[in-house]
Amino acid sequence: MSPRTERSAVAADLAWFSEERSAEVVNARIDAAIADPRLAEVARALTRHLHAFVKEVEPTHDEWLAGIRFLTDVGRMCSDWRQEFILLSDVLGVSMLVDAINSRRPSGATENTILGPFYVENPPLLPLGETICRDGKGEPLLVRGHVRDLDGRGIAGATLDVWQTNDDGFYDVQQQGLQPEMNMRGRFATDEEGAFHFRSVLPRYYPVPHDGPVGQLLAALGRHPNRAAHIHVIVSSPGFETVVTHIFEPNCPYLRDDPVFGVKDSLIGAFRRFDDADRAREAGFEGAGFFWEVEFDLVLAPIASKPGAPPLDAGRPA
Ligand code: BEZ
Ligand code: FE
Repeated sequence: MSPRTERSAVAADLAWFSEERSAEVVNARIDAAIADPRLAEVARALTRHLHAFVKEVEPTHDEWLAGIRFLTDVGRMCSDWRQEFILLSDVLGVSMLVDAINSRRPSGATENTILGPFYVENPPLLPLGETICRDGKGEPLLVRGHVRDLDGRGIAGATLDVWQTNDDGFYDVQQQGLQPEMNMRGRFATDEEGAFHFRSVLPRYYPVPHDGPVGQLLAALGRHPNRAAHIHVIVSSPGFETVVTHIFEPNCPYLRDDPVFGVKDSLIGAFRRFDDADRAREAGFEGAGFFWEVEFDLVLAPIASKPGAPPLDAGRPA
């Protein structure tokens, strides 16, 4: 073979980088015999999509550097208490997409939504009817419902972990020393009928942490940081898929543009206000002239109905 023929044979096997074939050149380096085929699949897809992104956007060197600086700042913002990369994934809708892929359920089962960074494991176990509000602020709210299976049967002894911000729009873990410990958190077990009820306060909208690069990104994109008002609930029972979800307050002005795309129609509760002091006393709100009530059933699918997968951000730091 002449030297000239040898050179064209090398070029034909994709050894050299070119704009047109950039992704193929990079992916050709991934060993077909790689020990972890899933890693190879993910790396190839990442290369393909990243190169397609760059070809579409055609960034200048300065723009590419600005993007790298942004990601560097996101990393610098992360600590044991703050996970800015998950927040970035949240505001780009990726956390909800990963959760949707991993939480496909039969129709009738309660839908998942985002876990968020403020869950605290093992909240205090409280008797049914107890309040989770330890700072006395806010408008009284009675939350009640049943945990049921797909056939409508109540599930006795199901566990509900619930948490929300206080009336000032902060979680207790964001205001340590200011709020009582475990303020607005509790764990409840359903009764023999699968019923639960507990007292709380009307949830308020509040901003996702927006004092870092993700907050700057939201502002630059003309987006606000306010999460639609909600109560977090994790429901679990042996033999059933755990549901990580929210109950949304229907009058919140941010329902349609939640910054982390967490709102689903099926998760918007029917909140009713009762201006009736006697009824408020019966509900456990002594001395209140009114109270709110939401009845919300939570329907669990059996574990066999899908392969199990933990939520993307299970156990994530704030
Ligand atoms: C939350 O609902 O607590 C939350 C979710 C995503 C990002 C920040 C907060
Ligand atoms: Fe929240």
